[in-house]
Amino acid sequence: MITCSVTFLPDNITVSVEKGKTIAEAAQIAGIKLKMPCGGEGSCGKCAVKVMSNRVSDNVEISLDQKFEQVLACQTEVSEDVTVEVPVNARLGEHQVLLSAEDDNALGTFAFEPLCWKVTITLSPPSINENASDWIRLKGELGKIVGDEEVIIGLPLLTNLAHMLRDASWQVTVTLLQQDGYVEVIDLQPGANDEPIYGLAIDIGTTTVVVYLVDLCSGKVLDRNGTYNKQAVYGDDVIARIIHSQEKNGLQELQDAVVNTIDELTNQLLKKTRIEGTGVKAITIAANTIMTHLFLGLDPKYIRLEPYIPTTSQFPAVKATEVGLRSVPNANIYCMPSVGSYVGGDIVAGVLYTGISQKDELTLFIDIGTNGEIVLGNKEWLISCACSAGPAFEGSGITCGMRAMHGAIERIQITPGTYETRYETVEDGKPTGICGSGLIDCIAKLHHVGLLDRAGRFTADTQDTNRIRNNEEGKEFVISWEKEAGVDNDIVITEGDIQNLIRSKGAIFAGIRCLLNSLQIDMEIVDKFYIAGGFGNYLNINDAIEIGLLPDLPHEKYQFVGNTSVKGAYMTLISRSALKAAVEIGRKMTYMELSVGNEFMDEFVSALFLPHTDLSLFPSVQSN
Ligand code: FES
Repeated sequence: MITCSVTFLPDNITVSVEKGKTIAEAAQIAGIKLKMPCGGEGSCGKCAVKVMSNRVSDNVEISLDQKFEQVLACQTEVSEDVTVEVPVNARLGEHQVLLSAEDDNALGTFAFEPLCWKVTITLSPPSINENASDWIRLKGELGKIVGDEEVIIGLPLLTNLAHMLRDASWQVTVTLLQQDGYVEVIDLQPGANDEPIYGLAIDIGTTTVVVYLVDLCSGKVLDRNGTYNKQAVYGDDVIARIIHSQEKNGLQELQDAVVNTIDELTNQLLKKTRIEGTGVKAITIAANTIMTHLFLGLDPKYIRLEPYIPTTSQFPAVKATEVGLRSVPNANIYCMPSVGSYVGGDIVAGVLYTGISQKDELTLFIDIGTNGEIVLGNKEWLISCACSAGPAFEGSGITCGMRAMHGAIERIQITPGTYETRYETVEDGKPTGICGSGLIDCIAKLHHVGLLDRAGRFTADTQDTNRIRNNEEGKEFVISWEKEAGVDNDIVITEGDIQNLIRSKGAIFAGIRCLLNSLQIDMEIVDKFYIAGGFGNYLNINDAIEIGLLPDLPHEKYQFVGNTSVKGAYMTLISRSALKAAVEIGRKMTYMELSVGNEFMDEFVSALFLPHTDLSLFPSVQSN
C-alpha cells in the first residue's frame, strides 16, 4: 500500500493516507471538520481548500493538478505528498449551544423523580420461619417503593446478591431504572451508598448534537455541550443520509459517526466536571425518526419509499455498549417515541416541553429546521404534519449561510435611502456568515426598504448603491465587506439565496395552512404559537411575519422556545411522570400526510411571494 502525507494549514497537522484517498478523507483523519453539505457529491462547492506548493516546506511536493488553486476536498484524490490550506469558510465551526437558564426549571407540573435512582434497603435476616429467597425478600421491599410495577434483576447482579447481603449485614443500596412498564435493578452496592449518579439528555439533530450532563440526585444540569453531527460529511439532510445508509458499510458508518459525536461531547463534559463515565447510568435521547434509526443501527430505507414506513416508532431500551458508546459503558438508553416517519421523538419532546398536551388553550407548535414539523392541539387532541423546508434556515445551501455560532450575523438593520447596513453577530465575533435569524432579518429589511420586490428580485441597480452588484446568476447585496469580515470574502446574499429562502418559508407557511384547513380552523382561533428551531439567540417575529413565514397575528401570541428537543429529553431524564407523558403524547398524536392531494402544492405556490400572493392574509405588512 502506497501512502502519502497530507499537511493541513494553518493547523500544521500532517496525516498519512492511502494513495487515492480524497483530501476530505484525510481531513477527517486529521480531525479537521469540513463543511460538506452535499455529502461529497461535488455539487455544493463548500469544501474548497487551497492547494499550497512547496513554498510552505522545501520537502513538500505537490502532485495535484491545480497547484496553488482551490480544489474540492471531496473530489480531489491524493497521489503524492501535499499541503493544503483550509480556509475559515470551509470549516465547520464550534456549534453554539442554544441553552438558557430556564432549562433548570423545565419540569413544570411534573414531579422530580429521575429515571434512574438509588434506594437503601435493610432486610431482616431470614429464619426457618421466614425462609423466602434473598431476591424475593428484596423484591418485596422494592415493591413497597415502586408500587404496582414489576421489579426485575439480571443474572450478573443476582450472582452477587447472597454474599453482598450477608457481608453488609443485610443492608444494600439498589440503583433502579424505570423501563417501559417495569423497573429494573441495574446496580447493587453493599451498605448505604450515597455516591451520586448521573444521566445524559441528548438531542441528536440532523445537523447538530447537544448533550446535557445531569446530576440525577439533584436534577441539576451540571454542564452542556454541543457540536456538529459527524454524519454531516455524508450529506446535509436526512434523505442524503438514508441514501448513504444503503451503500456498503454505509449504515455502520452513519451509526459510528453519531456515536463518536456523542462520545466526544460526553468525554469533554466528563473531563471538565471530573466525573467518571461509569457513574452515568441513564440517557434519554430525542431525535427525528431517521436519526433515531441511524443511532440504533436500524435500516431507514423504507422511510424514504412510499408508503414511508419506519421499522418502529417505539424504540426498545438499549445498553450503551449495544450501540458502541464507550464514554459511558454502564448507561441505559431510552429513545423518545416517534409519531411517523417525519415526525419524530424531537417533536414529542417539544410538545412535552411546551406543555401543549396539558393545556386547554389551542396551541400550534412549529419546529423550523430542514423539515418543518407542525403540531396543533390541546389536552384533548394533537395532530401533526411535516413539510420539507430544506436546510436554508439552517444556513445550508445559502452562499454565506451558516449555523448560529460565533461570528454568525443574526440581526440586520438597513437604512432606507442610503442602504447602509448594520448587523449584530453571535458573541460579537467578526462576521463569518449569516445564520437563520439573520437571513430572515435580511430579507425582511431588504423588502422593507424597497430593495426587493414581492417575488424576491432586487429592484435597485448597481448605480443605486455599491452594495448591489451583479454576479453570474443575477444580483447580490453586500452585507459585510471583506475588510470588516472574519473570512476572505464579502458576505453577501444573492437572488438565488433569496429564492431558496422563499421556498423554505413558503413550505412552512403552506404546512400551517394545510393543517388548519384540514380541521377548518381559522388562524385567529389559535391561542398560542410556539416557535422552535436553532435560530440562535433570538427570532425576530416581526420580520418572520414580514416575509410570510409566520401568520400575521398579534405578537403576544408567539413565543420563541429555542431547542425544545434537548429540553424535552432532559425532562424525561429527571421525571418518570414526564417520560410517561411523552409516551402518551406519541400514542395520542395523529399524523397528517401532506403529500396526499394537491392542497399543499397549491398553498406552497401561493406562498412563494413576500409575504404571500394573497396580501389580505398579511394586513399589517400591507399597511406598512
Ligand atoms: S462539493 Fe465537496 S462536499 Fe459538496
